[in-house]
Amino acid sequence: MKKCVAIAIDGPAAAGKSTVAKLVAKALNMTYIDTGAMYRAVTWATINAGLDPKKEEDAKTLLPGLKIDLMEDGRVFCNGNDVTKIIREPIVSGNVSYIAAMKSVRLALIDMQRELAKSKSVVMDGRDIGSYVLPDAEVKIFQIASVETRAQRRFIENQSKGIDTTYEEVEEEVRKRDYIDSHRDFDPLVAAEDSIEIDTSFMTIQEVVDAILKVIKEKTGLEPQCH
Ligand code: DC
Repeated sequence: MKKCVAIAIDGPAAAGKSTVAKLVAKALNMTYIDTGAMYRAVTWATINAGLDPKKEEDAKTLLPGLKIDLMEDGRVFCNGNDVTKIIREPIVSGNVSYIAAMKSVRLALIDMQRELAKSKSVVMDGRDIGSYVLPDAEVKIFQIASVETRAQRRFIENQSKGIDTTYEEVEEEVRKRDYIDSHRDFDPLVAAEDSIEIDTSFMTIQEVVDAILKVIKEKTGLEPQCH
């Protein structure tokens, strides 16, 4: 059987990881896995069930039997419901850090993520992929950008998706999520020691993709078929 390769792309909220990770996966014909969408799906499920997303004893009741499907076309299903759009809405974005700080939720989702990476080559984006989920990933990228750049990018993305927020709200949410993500007790946002940091503040998407593909080629020999 062909050896599966794992590429980890971590970094703070709105650093452009998912856009870049999708393009890298496409260029190398690998599967893209958006682990943030999984935490968002649990957040949606908690709120949808009328439970409190700040209480672990509430959220964890949903874990047995929880089913999250990440489709090749980018759609996200949670227990059979198409949650693709709603998981990007402020009600979910504003609560997801609480859910992502819960050890029981993390352990359940990390199991699913490891399972997904077992049978196929993946580009996985998140916060802890290189540091915890896939410590043996062949390539680990830690993608950063200034808070202002990240807030601006997320604001534009929200507008294009018809999500109604002001720039100030987005910047405040990015700062709040940075703080909660990097200060949680279990498995916080941290760069893996052997990760390669890329500051994307002044780079175009294509420049970031090319930089990552170059690292992948150096480390694994893999390169895009027609790039
Ligand atoms: O990447 P994102 O904004 O969709 O992530 C949503 C939240 O999930 C964010 O607050 C951090 C958390 N997260 C995490 O803790 N670990 C991951 N592997 C992915 C996301």
